[in-house]
Amino acid sequence: MMEEIINNKPIGFFDSGVGGLSVLSRFREVLPSENIIYYGDTIHLPYGNKSKEELVGYARGILNFMQKMEVKAVVIACNTSSAQAYDSIKDKYDFPIYPIIQTCAKSIANTGINRVGVFATEATVKSGKYTEELKKYNPNIKVKELAGKSWVGIVEKTSINIVQDRNNIKNEIAQMLEFTPEKIILGCTHYPYLMDEFTKYAPEDLFIDPAEVFVEYIKSDLINRKIVNAANNRDSYEKFYVSSKPDEFVKNAKIFYDVKTLPIIVNNEY
Ligand code: DGL
Repeated sequence: MMEEIINNKPIGFFDSGVGGLSVLSRFREVLPSENIIYYGDTIHLPYGNKSKEELVGYARGILNFMQKMEVKAVVIACNTSSAQAYDSIKDKYDFPIYPIIQTCAKSIANTGINRVGVFATEATVKSGKYTEELKKYNPNIKVKELAGKSWVGIVEKTSINIVQDRNNIKNEIAQMLEFTPEKIILGCTHYPYLMDEFTKYAPEDLFIDPAEVFVEYIKSDLINRKIVNAANNRDSYEKFYVSSKPDEFVKNAKIFYDVKTLPIIVNNEY
């Protein structure tokens, strides 16, 4: 019985910055009792233009940190890291690791859609991971992957020309709509922050935020593994860590997540 299981060890979440908080906020809705360690690798932002080798190095460093923090599981709340690094690190740790793309592909592919668009970072698009994973479950599915150039910069406020970037969104959505997708996957955890911008050019129900099915899967898997914290209380903790600029992290997170304590800087030795 779920009520009997109380495992207080924290669950680790990581992303390049505030993007993973769009996953964490959904996770909080389904599992409010879990203790959380969140790592934003802000010094390496954006991940989208990094090489595979760099991304594997960052992921390994963060996973080592999580291991030191004695987590019971790690959520890769970053599509880029899931696409480029997960395969290289997945067997090196003795706790479950949940990569967003590979975890969500099955339920998205099984919804019966046959034309799907994916907006993601350049590194994710380059990997072709979404197409590969979706085709595993629906070989006939047609997938168009497009990079949302500089979109992460708008969210993290590192963009030098926000007006130009917002214009790019309009053009990139138009380009995607030419493909006539039945759904468009937001394949970067920063993108849900831009929903107000997207819905100027396309209806909201065209977009899929994979985080929705992601957190449901994680919940059921934690229950199956008997490592869920089913304690019926809401006084769980959240500890935030970043590799640089903790104040900016809190500020950028603000519209979607109330980061109550200033993140601690952990200079990860990759
Ligand atoms: N939020 C991340 C993702 O889901 C990475 C964005 C970036 O830093 O480029 O891909």
